[in-house]
Amino acid sequence: MDRAFLEKLFGLEGKVALVTGASGGIGRALAHGLAMAGATVALNGRSEEKLAAARQAIEADGGRAAVFPADLVDLGAIAALVERVSDRLGPIDVLVNGAGINKREPIQEVTPATYAAITDLNLRAVYFLSQAVARAMAERGGGKIIQIGSLNAAYGLGTISVYGLTKAAIVQLTKVQAVEWARQNVQVNCLCPGFIETELTAPLWAAETTRRWLLERVPAKRAGQPGDLVGMTLYLASRASDFTTGQAFYVDGGFLAGGQW
Ligand SMILES: NC(=O)c1ccc[n+]([C@@H]2O[C@H](COP(=O)([O-])OP(=O)(O)OC[C@H]3O[C@@H](n4cnc5c(N)ncnc54)[C@H](O)[C@@H]3O)[C@@H](O)[C@H]2O)c1
Repeated sequence: MDRAFLEKLFGLEGKVALVTGASGGIGRALAHGLAMAGATVALNGRSEEKLAAARQAIEADGGRAAVFPADLVDLGAIAALVERVSDRLGPIDVLVNGAGINKREPIQEVTPATYAAITDLNLRAVYFLSQAVARAMAERGGGKIIQIGSLNAAYGLGTISVYGLTKAAIVQLTKVQAVEWARQNVQVNCLCPGFIETELTAPLWAAETTRRWLLERVPAKRAGQPGDLVGMTLYLASRASDFTTGQAFYVDGGFLAGGQW
């Protein structure tokens, strides 16, 4: 085994990766990591300004990226996004479904509008973007899809009912996608982060009670950083994972393993 072997195993030179949620904490870090491994990265999110900043950061480090703002709650925008990315950068080899939202409130306060807003993005958009991208991947011999779940897929937390059900559904969806698309050489896996410091979790890290609970409860005794998820992403995006499909990988500082007395 030499350096060239490792580059072949984990390198993404010549690949095109579409990352949704690329203006957010996690998506931006994953996009940057994919670009550093050699991929040309299509950055999707809602804020063109934030996406442009992510692109500049990648280019400053010698990577390649382009910006594709779109609202994934709009089903028409999903089809158009796949077409725009393919026309401009070439066929998509890697899809990272990173866009996601949450609203923390007790079940008794959840309205149909909140329910729809969360499920439309966290679930419906993931379903149909994966469908569109996998179709094109199958036509050209394969690809990699990385869903972003959460430890909430396996661990129930008060006030996180709607978000939690979307993430549990994504883990299940990952399995069926893996089964249906295995023969087309499309591997689908779900990366489930623990508590990572981003805008989405900023209120949890800012409030004394939740911050204390988190630091006591996470065996690693620290907040996860978006960069902690890059290694698993590179594995799941590269040839290294060619025989790995339908799995959920929890990157959570040991949270789900349990706790100390
Ligand atoms: N931060 C955590 O601790 C944590 C833990 C587990 C899972 N996750 C998951 O990781 C993913 C990224 O989370 P984050 O913490 O980086 O969040 P974030 O709030 O920093 O970023 C969210 C991203 O989603 C995009 N987005 C929101 N609505 C959109 C829409 N309608 N169309 C297109 N894009 C839209 C935003 O533009 C942004 O890029 C989410 O799926 C989240 O559920 C996060």
